[in-house]
Amino acid sequence: MRILTISGSLRAASHNTALLRAAAELAPAGVEVVPYDGLDRLPHYNEDHDTDAPSGEVARLREAVAGADLVLISTPEYNGSVPGHLKAAVDWASRPFGQGSALWGKPVAVIGASVTDYGAVWAQDHLRKSLGLAGARVIDAELAVPKAPDRFAGPNGELTDPETRERLAGLLSDLVARQKDPAGAAAAA
Ligand SMILES: Cc1cc2nc3c(=O)[nH]c(=O)nc-3n(C[C@H](O)[C@H](O)[C@H](O)COP(=O)(O)O)c2cc1C
Repeated sequence: MRILTISGSLRAASHNTALLRAAAELAPAGVEVVPYDGLDRLPHYNEDHDTDAPSGEVARLREAVAGADLVLISTPEYNGSVPGHLKAAVDWASRPFGQGSALWGKPVAVIGASVTDYGAVWAQDHLRKSLGLAGARVIDAELAVPKAPDRFAGPNGELTDPETRERLAGLLSDLVARQKDPAGAAAAA
């Protein structure tokens, strides 16, 4: 099973990117976790450029999403919502709208970290709404990491907070179990 991770932050010392590095470490055995690293190169969404032969990074994004069994996005919150560059990624991946898009029917889970007391919950909610409208199968799972600077440490800013690590590991095993047995997970819910 392959999980594509997308961090909504372009910052080198990003807490959201570090959260996804921890997800790669804590994922159940046998799960391949592949980070999408092209967000910084992705152009603004422009319908005029959304042709049958889109620019290189748009094609790479769509291929990466299409090739994943599940997409895990970690978003910061900018002024109460999703960072613009991350929203552009959703918009590019949502076209051509309908069954031809990389996001159509794709299981996607959203988590997020912020420096405030709330853990980017508004950005997470807005992102889930956009993904749902784009036709993704938004998974009912949540991890909000508030006060991020208190939970990451060391030269590379790794996730050190034991409770957050435990919650992240639990979320990942739940996501993987649901993918392997959607009917069983639904029955247990
Ligand atoms: C333009 C801007 C707007 C922000 N607005 C919010 C906000 O609305 N809510 C919030 O919790 N944090 C806000 N923050 C702070 C972010 O939570 C913080 O920069 C966070 O560390 C970003 O995630 P990262 O570490 O992954 O880059 C904002 C930061 C920036 C740069």
